[in-house]
Amino acid sequence: MKDILQQLEAQRATARLGGGQRRIDAQHAKGKLTARERIELLLDEDSFEEFDMFVAHRCTDFGMQAERPAGDGVVTGWGTVNGRMVYVFAQDFTVMGGSVSETHGKKICKIMDMAIQNGAPVIGLNDSGGARIQEGVASLAAYGDVFDRNIKASGVIPQISVIMGPCAGGAVYSPAMTDFIFMVKDSSYMFVTGPDVVKTVTNEVVTAEELGGAVTHTRKSSVADAAFENDVEALIEVRRLIDFLPLNNREKPPVRPFFDDPARVEPSLDSLIPDNPNSPYDMKELILKVADEGDFYEIQAEFAKNIITGFIRLEGQTVGVVANQPMVLAGCLDIDSSRKAARFVRFCDAFEIPILTLVDVPGFLPGTGQEYAGVIKHGAKLLYAYGEATVPKVTVITRKAYGGAYVVMASKHMGADFNYAWPTAEIAVMGSKGAVEILYRSELGDAEKTAARINEYEERFANPFVAAEKGFIDEVIMPQSTRKRVARAFAALRKKKIEIPWKKHDNIPL
Ligand code: HXC
Repeated sequence: MKDILQQLEAQRATARLGGGQRRIDAQHAKGKLTARERIELLLDEDSFEEFDMFVAHRCTDFGMQAERPAGDGVVTGWGTVNGRMVYVFAQDFTVMGGSVSETHGKKICKIMDMAIQNGAPVIGLNDSGGARIQEGVASLAAYGDVFDRNIKASGVIPQISVIMGPCAGGAVYSPAMTDFIFMVKDSSYMFVTGPDVVKTVTNEVVTAEELGGAVTHTRKSSVADAAFENDVEALIEVRRLIDFLPLNNREKPPVRPFFDDPARVEPSLDSLIPDNPNSPYDMKELILKVADEGDFYEIQAEFAKNIITGFIRLEGQTVGVVANQPMVLAGCLDIDSSRKAARFVRFCDAFEIPILTLVDVPGFLPGTGQEYAGVIKHGAKLLYAYGEATVPKVTVITRKAYGGAYVVMASKHMGADFNYAWPTAEIAVMGSKGAVEILYRSELGDAEKTAARINEYEERFANPFVAAEKGFIDEVIMPQSTRKRVARAFAALRKKKIEIPWKKHDNIPL
């Protein structure tokens, strides 16, 4: 018996070494951790339970039978993050570059199936040279099977991808279908075709980092949700994100003990809005002052900064925040901000996370650039996402709410439950100058008359009371009391239930 136990320990030790010390050293030399080191950091101490440690590939081509490393390039299993269950797979670059074989794919599928069945998130730590070249189509089939699980899991359990090395070719489409993608700066990249093929086909000379690095994908393409300096920071941030999320779509988000008075007033908010209606102010200040303990987890902070998305807690419970940012493009909606916010709203709705919308929006960004690129369809995504969301929705208009953008941004007409406005709110078809230029075109030569008309329009519409008269605004609130009002509104909505008519699925504009 003792021998058998020793043999098991020896086999385990070999498996844990993956591709061997030389390759582990090479991984460290690149500033990367190994698959097992990453899992250790991601999960609570001693909580990892491994599956399939001894699975080996079955390929016999190209002399592959000579080397059959235990685990086949991916470490899979489950564990806990702050006591809550998650499933995890971590590709082991030290074993054939973490390449995906038939059996490697099967290991990932096994834990994804368990995660869906048992209702816990899947976290994928990606670090792979792609399809195992020696296995050909069997490897492509393995990817196909993983894609299938990604689709089945979508909206059922949160799926998080962390890109910590190469991720190229069709392999990118598995992370692309997950809810959040994090990348590590300077050591990860994602692209459909690499720099060499790009050079051949388009004659562009570009580095892997420029083409598909963390900065590119968080600032330009919006493929990734956040970029981190190194493996450690990325994994710590995944743990923080998990704390905000429910484990599955049948469960409410976690409730944390809170030590911040929900009725806390913030007198400084009474002077947040500048006297000049065209001056910007930082909407993040409002978010931080409303949130429990000023804790805000921002999603896509580096992309489409004219809209802010992320998670806060109110009375210890997770709330998704969508807020126009007057500091960037005056907070207008455009293609990028509409797409960013629409995806966030849909995530919140799928996982029963209530949505707080903070509005200061002068309208949609005009121009051929926007129209030719389809701002109509992209703007409709956000409109649609808000309209279909059945989670509790609370909206606060701080200043401008003009035109179509007013309706889009979780207005009463989009089914918001509580619509508040600050006394500084202006709810109108457009700004007063634009309105007068259209209504009184013939008088435009007369500056005095035009100024009087602008004044008249402002007095009529540059306030929240016309909308409040019609019941589109439930109440005009003091800025300083926003946290209290919003926290009470969400508390009143905890049992909200909406039945929607049966349909196979919707047809959101894509
Ligand atoms: C088998 C692979 C491999 C692969 C790397 N290795 N990629 N083995 N299949 N796809 C092995 C190498 O032979 C090497 O083995 C070890 O992993 C480390 O690779 P290196 O090249 O030494 O590492 P590095 O210099 O860091 O370069 C990493 C790399 C490069 C950029 C990823 O290895 C590479 O270009 N690999 C091929 C990538 C590729 O074309 N994949 C197919 C993409 S198409 P030893 O024994 O020396 O340690 C695809 C389609 C998916 O994935 C479709 C889904 C639908």
